[in-house]
Amino acid sequence: MAKRVAIIGAGPSGLAQLRAFQSAKDKGAEIPEIVCFEKQSDWGGLWNYSWRTGVDQYGNQCHGSMYRYLWSNGPKEGLEFADYTFEEHFGRPIASYPPRAVLFDYIKGRVEKAGVRNMIRFSTNVRDVRAQDSGGFELTSRNEINDTEQTEFFDHVIVATGHFSAPNIPEYPGFDAYNGRILHAHDFRDAREFTDKDVLILGSSYSAEDIGSQCWKYGAKTITVAYRTAPMGYAWPDNWKEVPALDRMEGRTAHFIDDTSKDIDAIILCTGYKHHFPFLPDDLRLKTVNRLTAADLYKGVVWNKNPEMFYLGMQDQWYTFNMFDAQAWWVRDCIMDRIPLPNASVMAQDVVTRTAEEDALEDDYSCIITQGAYTQELISETDYPSFDIDASNKAFFEWKAHKKHNIMTFRDHGYTSPMTGQTAPKHHTAWKDALDDSLESYLET
Ligand SMILES: Cc1cc2nc3c(=O)[nH]c(=O)nc-3n(C[C@H](O)[C@H](O)[C@H](O)COP(=O)(O)OP(=O)(O)OC[C@H]3O[C@@H](n4cnc5c(N)ncnc54)[C@H](O)[C@@H]3O)c2cc1C
Ligand SMILES: NC(=O)c1ccc[n+]([C@@H]2O[C@H](COP(=O)([O-])OP(=O)(O)OC[C@H]3O[C@@H](n4cnc5c(N)ncnc54)[C@H](OP(=O)(O)O)[C@@H]3O)[C@@H](O)[C@H]2O)c1
Repeated sequence: MAKRVAIIGAGPSGLAQLRAFQSAKDKGAEIPEIVCFEKQSDWGGLWNYSWRTGVDQYGNQCHGSMYRYLWSNGPKEGLEFADYTFEEHFGRPIASYPPRAVLFDYIKGRVEKAGVRNMIRFSTNVRDVRAQDSGGFELTSRNEINDTEQTEFFDHVIVATGHFSAPNIPEYPGFDAYNGRILHAHDFRDAREFTDKDVLILGSSYSAEDIGSQCWKYGAKTITVAYRTAPMGYAWPDNWKEVPALDRMEGRTAHFIDDTSKDIDAIILCTGYKHHFPFLPDDLRLKTVNRLTAADLYKGVVWNKNPEMFYLGMQDQWYTFNMFDAQAWWVRDCIMDRIPLPNASVMAQDVVTRTAEEDALEDDYSCIITQGAYTQELISETDYPSFDIDASNKAFFEWKAHKKHNIMTFRDHGYTSPMTGQTAPKHHTAWKDALDDSLESYLET
């Protein structure tokens, strides 16, 4: 009997896993029976955006925190698939910071070519997974279209449900009496809602930077970003100010801990996300903070407490799509008995060692190098096409320098592909002036 493998989620991580198995099959290997469960009606994970993002027609929370007008926040040269380049997909080099629709098209292109859609059960929500004493798992899913539940056995379960969907929502004094809108980044959909408004953003990371930039681009009156630990420190436009943490709201006035204040029309909580697995019991449930070394995962993917189970993409992410590929190829080879696992103490020590190494890292640059080296380490143990990690690191370094130089123009730069060696052309319109983020508009020459 062939092994049965469940993949939960058909976002970039789950799709990487499908592509990994299909590529082994293409080379003549006998692969396990694969079933991928996706609770939404289409693939692509958070890159699959529709107006339904939020709550779906079945009353379930739609996974993902995507919003209109989102453009890649890092250069595409850092995330390119080694087995399917942007040039192969689009038939020519394209600029370096594609909007969501363009990245969605690219993600789809590879898996359409691979022909793996029939391995996915769409609109099927995994509700429960239980480890069996005799090995393997019982997995219960609900088909939302038929409104039916099914329980079945799998030898392995791979959790690829992402970790930027369940919002971390703090409360500050005065929120309950505030008359304006308070929302988390997870529920932010369209910056035009905030045109002519005085917007307060809490948080000082990527969501704060990008949602603030969207609001600025689409005509917010002012943007005030309150940081808890440290400001982002970019040279912001004139109507954008960074201030120390919020102390309290009094009516519509925000009071900050430095005794300054500002009247505010809307508050956007860019306060991060939680690793959240409501379908998993405690013995299988990953509990970690968002960092390069996630807790309890050998090589960043094997669940130490039951190595028949795997997680993909649970780390904090500089590298994304090609790191998910590296993980997926490695997990595939583990399941197909090509890579033996060491004993439990070696696996536990691996996490301890990586955690200590990460704790000693001094800045973002060393984090990028470390995650690049991790990606390379996994790739070197499988047949995933090797690529120039130094070139990817270089694209990330240049990206950081361009952001420092001008946070509102960094997306106008082009970088060199680690896969093809080609330098990306300049986009036809500066990011701040490109209000139409459609695929058609982006691909115009
Ligand atoms: C707003 C935002 C912008 C981002 N921008 C960038 C960017 O510009 N560049 C970049 O490289 N990365 C970006 N990221 C990082 C992002 O994490 C990755 O790009 C990528 O989407 C992660 O893929 P994933 O498959 O691990 O998770 P996801 O994309 O979240 O996909 C998970 C999938 O699992 C499904 N699922 C969840 N639970 C269940 C269940 N119980 N049963 C069945 N299916 C389930 C979901 O429906 C979803 O389709 C961004 C993240 C956010 C939040
Ligand atoms: N393509 C894009 O443009 C884009 C846009 C948005 C998001 N993303 C991606 O989404 C992912 C998540 O980014 P994120 O910014 O949402 O999360 P994040 O990186 O985890 O940052 C969370 C922020 O919230 C702050 N915070 C947490 N609790 C708080 C509290 N109680 N009060 C005030 N501040 C609090 C943190 O402050 P401290 O520093 O004090 O801890 C931190 O600044 C990233 O991978 C990013 O790349 C991409």
